[in-house]
Amino acid sequence: MRSPVGIFDSGFGGLTVVRQFLHLLPEESIIYFGDNARVPYGSRARGRIQTFVLEVGQYLVEQGIKALLVACNTATAAALAVLREKFSLPIIGIIEPGSRAAIGASRSGEIAIVATEYTIASGSYQDTIKRLRPRARVYGQACPLFVPFVERGQLNGRELEAAAEEYLSFLANTNVDTLVLGCTHYPHLSSIIRRAIGPDIRIIDPAEATIWEIKKVLEQDGLLAPEGNVPQHRFCTSGDPEHFRRLGQQLLGFPMEQVEHVAMGE
Ligand code: DGL
Repeated sequence: MRSPVGIFDSGFGGLTVVRQFLHLLPEESIIYFGDNARVPYGSRARGRIQTFVLEVGQYLVEQGIKALLVACNTATAAALAVLREKFSLPIIGIIEPGSRAAIGASRSGEIAIVATEYTIASGSYQDTIKRLRPRARVYGQACPLFVPFVERGQLNGRELEAAAEEYLSFLANTNVDTLVLGCTHYPHLSSIIRRAIGPDIRIIDPAEATIWEIKKVLEQDGLLAPEGNVPQHRFCTSGDPEHFRRLGQQLLGFPMEQVEHVAMGE
């Protein structure tokens, strides 16, 4: 099936998932939606996030997508269930595949999650990991300053380093051997994060496991693009399309010829 896969995030974060998607599923077309006018989702209440996510989902479904990839941990934690209730196409979230990847990587059984305030407070990663590996010890740390840095295109500098050091200092008193980047914005900051935690802790970006998951679902449902398909990609934002195009292609490492502006409620 040639129809695109819909992929969305509150902003530029989901592009870390798109990067891997284009690499692992090069014949699939996508429509990406960044809700940049309403970022961050991670400091908002559940009901609000659900409203935003259902609006974005509605728009993407109207564009004729064959499956929906929620490239946002906050949206997955707050709204995966309501999305699945409302729309009948395959919908893949990022937290379950990310948790499995972390469990597979950890020897000590101590796993840390860095994510938005909402994702950490929801306990979604903690609960999923404990369900899959009951004896695991899970630490959660919210890093609310990270997303605004990425949205501004500020990916290094002293201020950011200081924030990373402060957020990640708790690791020194633990046996954590695996750190999950539980917000799709954070892989844009992976070199800063690596510097703050040192060389020994494994960093897990849930994107890769999530792409394997969607590949499996597309295969099972007979929805893969035909072999040799030449993909076509669309990029949409509720924010400023020129800012999205400029920063987006830098973050993605892939040219975006055109970015469409799509207005969302308020
Ligand atoms: N990129 C999103 C995530 O994975 C959250 C960013 C935000 O707070 O909007 O959780």
